Amino acid sequence: MAGPVGSASSPRSGPADASVLPARLVSDLRTDHAGETGAVMIYRGILAITRNPAVRRFAQAHLATEAAHLAAIELLLAPRHRSRLLLLWRAAGWLTGALPAGVGPRAVYATIEAVETFVDHHYTEQIESIDRIDPGRAQAPLQALRAQLHSFRADEIDHRDDAASRFDRHAGPPSRLLGLWVWAVGAGSRGAVKICRWV
Ligand SMILES: [Fe+2]
Ligand SMILES: [Fe+2]
Repeated sequence: MAGPVGSASSPRSGPADASVLPARLVSDLRTDHAGETGAVMIYRGILAITRNPAVRRFAQAHLATEAAHLAAIELLLAPRHRSRLLLLWRAAGWLTGALPAGVGPRAVYATIEAVETFVDHHYTEQIESIDRIDPGRAQAPLQALRAQLHSFRADEIDHRDDAASRFDRHAGPPSRLLGLWVWAVGAGSRGAVKICRWV
């Protein structure tokens, strides 16, 4: 992995700037950008299908946060660094929201809990990777990015917990089909991140 870059004497506040980051972190940001693009589309997919008022309020609130995450990452990741498969990630995201929305609220909440659990781990790994590059927390660009990722992660944890709290466990555990779908969502997210590092 590339070493730390940037000046330790630069101000520690302000937005992260991908142009001064190590290549590995730029590829991390490409996965974040694709993921937040997909997240926006997940909630749009839910809203395109469901008429359930509680699910709509849930999706609208989460969508606003994901749109803010995406806008923040777009500010710091130039178009040339973004995934060339964004159309695919948008379509996959929309389906990941729309399909469970056609089944019902439990399927939506289980899907979001799975997605946001994955995203929490994803941002945690990235924060740990920044801490390995800059253990003294002296590199301003890295620390600006770290703060941003930390704030995103807190939002994703809120989303995960919100979904988990709404999943009606009194109605029994998830069906085998829902369990399989949730597994596929996690596996698909992991696969998408791997592909995004390269394309
Ligand atoms: Fe997000
Ligand atoms: Fe989220």
